[in-house]
Amino acid sequence: MNPVRIGIIGCGPIAQAAHLPATVKAHNAQLVAVCDRSERLRMAAQQVHGATRAYADAAELLADPAVEAVIIAVADAFHVPLARAALQAGKHVLVEKPLADSLASALSLATVHAASQLILHVGNNKRADAGIAYAHDMAWNQLGQRVAYRGWYCDSHARYTVTDNLQPTFVSGEDALRPSGNPKADRRRYLLLTHGSHLVDTARYLCGPIVRVQTQFLERADARCWFSAVTFADGALGHLDLTVTIQGDHHEGFHLYSQHGSIQAKTYLPWFSKSSDVEVFTSSDQQYHRPLAADGYSYRRQIEAFCAAIRGIPQQHAANVSDGVAALAVLTAMTRSVEQGSGWVATKDVAGLP
Ligand SMILES: NC(=O)c1ccc[n+]([C@@H]2O[C@H](COP(=O)([O-])OP(=O)(O)OC[C@H]3O[C@@H](n4cnc5c(N)ncnc54)[C@H](O)[C@@H]3O)[C@@H](O)[C@H]2O)c1
Repeated sequence: MNPVRIGIIGCGPIAQAAHLPATVKAHNAQLVAVCDRSERLRMAAQQVHGATRAYADAAELLADPAVEAVIIAVADAFHVPLARAALQAGKHVLVEKPLADSLASALSLATVHAASQLILHVGNNKRADAGIAYAHDMAWNQLGQRVAYRGWYCDSHARYTVTDNLQPTFVSGEDALRPSGNPKADRRRYLLLTHGSHLVDTARYLCGPIVRVQTQFLERADARCWFSAVTFADGALGHLDLTVTIQGDHHEGFHLYSQHGSIQAKTYLPWFSKSSDVEVFTSSDQQYHRPLAADGYSYRRQIEAFCAAIRGIPQQHAANVSDGVAALAVLTAMTRSVEQGSGWVATKDVAGLP
């Protein structure tokens, strides 16, 4: 396959830890350009990863005909303006999760995307976890009707000790472009968006659309806890637990009970580059099945799926613009449910979705 010529906008922590090395390693991608407002960051990215061009201004990168597709690795508030500009410049887009910092903004981007013929993937890299992809295929192709799903994302008190040990030493830039104010200051909103977007997307990937939610929220002992009952479009029941932080190790995974079997999965922090441990019980042979899923580099696999889609090979696992919008609708419904005293909220009601 002719490699897809990639430009990366944003050379901050996620680009340095994931997208820059993963693009260089992807078998069907070629890193041609990097862009960051910070000179130190873009020069470091160019020198270390060998991009031939480095831009300070995203508009210049988007005007470069050598760039076919962009990875947008910037703060949440900048996702939609940059993704919109990229689509309007005729570039395919892989944008970090969450798709947007609000549902309204995500919907506006979906409208722009619908008028294009371009690929837009969202960086929900759990879908590129080969263990979770195996669980998906078993759930949808072999296990029959789904009954119930339980998913959890519980961030460890030791997260930053662990990630500091695993991630590269970051280059930082005083002149990096940041959103006005500090979006991370509103912890409740920020944590729900940044971690909840993974929790909700994985649930939807495994069980389909979520049509209503009922969320209880508790802030206590330096932890914030969202416990949500959900109903899937096929009538299956779900429970989603987002707790940040727990006094214990990172705790992420799911259980799925279906007509002809069940699945249990334990997911690792992505910086271990280790696929989830997945065990599938199938009633037909009364056996447990456990994939090796040895290729655990989800960020590289995500870029390879993006490039394959651009070259016309359909990708059933990647999160697309509809998935990004739907995740934000569920997160918005959770917030509204808490505001309304933990009543049920239909996801279609939060944005007039059909
Ligand atoms: N999928 C995952 O596992 C994962 C993990 C961590 C972070 N993320 C996501 O990655 C995104 C970025 O995180 P980060 O910590 O690297 O952000 P950051 O804000 O620290 O760095 C972003 C960089 O982009 C640059 N930038 C922003 N807008 C620009 C523009 N218009 N032109 C040129 N440069 C521009 C800034 O100068 C900055 O250096 C966030 O949306 C976050 O949610 C995803």
